[in-house]
Amino acid sequence: MHVAMIGTGYVGLVSGACFSEFGFDVDCVDKDSAKIEALRGGRMPIFEPGLEALVASNVGAGRLRFTTELAPAVGRADVVMIAVGTPSRRGDGHADLRYIYAAAEEIADALTGYTVIATKSTVPVGTGRELERLIAARRPDAAFDIVSNPEFLREGSAITDFMHPDRVVVGVESEPARATLNELYRPLFLRETPIIFTGLETAELVKYAANTFLATKITFINEIADICERIGADVHDVAKGIGLDGRIGSKFLHPGPGFGGSCFPKDARAFVRIAEESGAPSRIVEAVLAVNEARKARMAEKIVAACGGSVAGKTIAILGITFKPNTDDVRESPGLEIAPALAAAGADIRIYDPEGMAEGRAVLDGVTWSESAYGAMDGADAVVILTEWNEFRALDLERVKTLLKSPLIVDLRNIYNPADMAARGFYYVSVGRAATRPDGGVATVQGGGAR
Ligand code: UGA
Repeated sequence: MHVAMIGTGYVGLVSGACFSEFGFDVDCVDKDSAKIEALRGGRMPIFEPGLEALVASNVGAGRLRFTTELAPAVGRADVVMIAVGTPSRRGDGHADLRYIYAAAEEIADALTGYTVIATKSTVPVGTGRELERLIAARRPDAAFDIVSNPEFLREGSAITDFMHPDRVVVGVESEPARATLNELYRPLFLRETPIIFTGLETAELVKYAANTFLATKITFINEIADICERIGADVHDVAKGIGLDGRIGSKFLHPGPGFGGSCFPKDARAFVRIAEESGAPSRIVEAVLAVNEARKARMAEKIVAACGGSVAGKTIAILGITFKPNTDDVRESPGLEIAPALAAAGADIRIYDPEGMAEGRAVLDGVTWSESAYGAMDGADAVVILTEWNEFRALDLERVKTLLKSPLIVDLRNIYNPADMAARGFYYVSVGRAATRPDGGVATVQGGGAR
């Protein structure tokens, strides 16, 4: 079986490499010749654990190739997967489908023999149907079927997520296409992965429903965290107390500075538009977006409050600028709003991130970039943990104390234990838990103001 993967972003590159690992013959196609050149040289355009080795071994085995030439790859393919970007359209939240439709036209022109064309990119409900119409109009002679095959992988654990998914969802409406997808995912059936065959629109909606549900879950626990801070409760015990209920589940109940990344915010915005246009608006997801957006400013206020009500003239060290660990991606990272808000309040900002500094530099002005966590903290008035990278979980706290002007840690990812931090001599402020002071006192005011 031959696969053509159109687009070598996160989803395309990881999926292409994983399908080749299954033993299929895969051409990864991208218009960006510099990216293709780099991939041919074994250089990855993204930081993703395990990806470089996976690509190298499959390229070595002759099953994985990178090319800018779409037509020959599509001509050979039994399955063409569309994995190009679907960014938010400026201003209105709709997904911008220009890249998808441009790819579809090129694919149409190159079709030979029966071909299954599957969307892997997250696309609004109805896109599959539109692709069907568009390609059939352009190539009335072509034998093809459109399939929706949304991907659920997470950045940072993308390969494991692909190889061991909770489920595979396939929107398919013809027998030959269903048989082709069955064959493609056979290695996963052998691991007893559930596969859901359903209609095109349903599969498209599953992807949005999954992401917006998870974004809702995070936002819910963030609101619980705010309540905990005000009433003296502990958000982690609340999360455990509800999460052990099998109907709720314990995952994605970790509070923080708000969700970010290239998927949740964009998909939630697109979902709100989809729901509105369907005539059944989603008040829940509208609220999730508004609460999450407001949260970033509130986190900056919380930091200011922890610093005694003003950060003017103070130096703040920020650890982590990526939207989560194990990625170099800073898209819609809460830090991109928190750092400028602190700078606008008069603080000098120093940032260190293990992998995200290059991406961060490209989008953040007016801050200093440090080469190490300790370098950032040297002489700073406070340190703020924004991303839960492993190296921040094991800081040499004695050294941190000698480096900081005052021993203040604002941990927006809750990676340390409050009582422990107080015992070690820190004023420690986290999310959804009482702040603790070195003298053993519990600070009740967490700051951040009312919404
Ligand atoms: C997300 C989904 O988890 C994937 O299933 C999906 O395939 C992907 O979007 C996509 O649509 O492509 P990703 O954006 O890589 O994956 O990252 P997540 O691990 O889901 O984290 C998203 C955001 O939520 C991050 O900012 C993270 O810090 C935050 N988060 C996550 C929390 O604040 N608390 C949690 O308990 C979990």
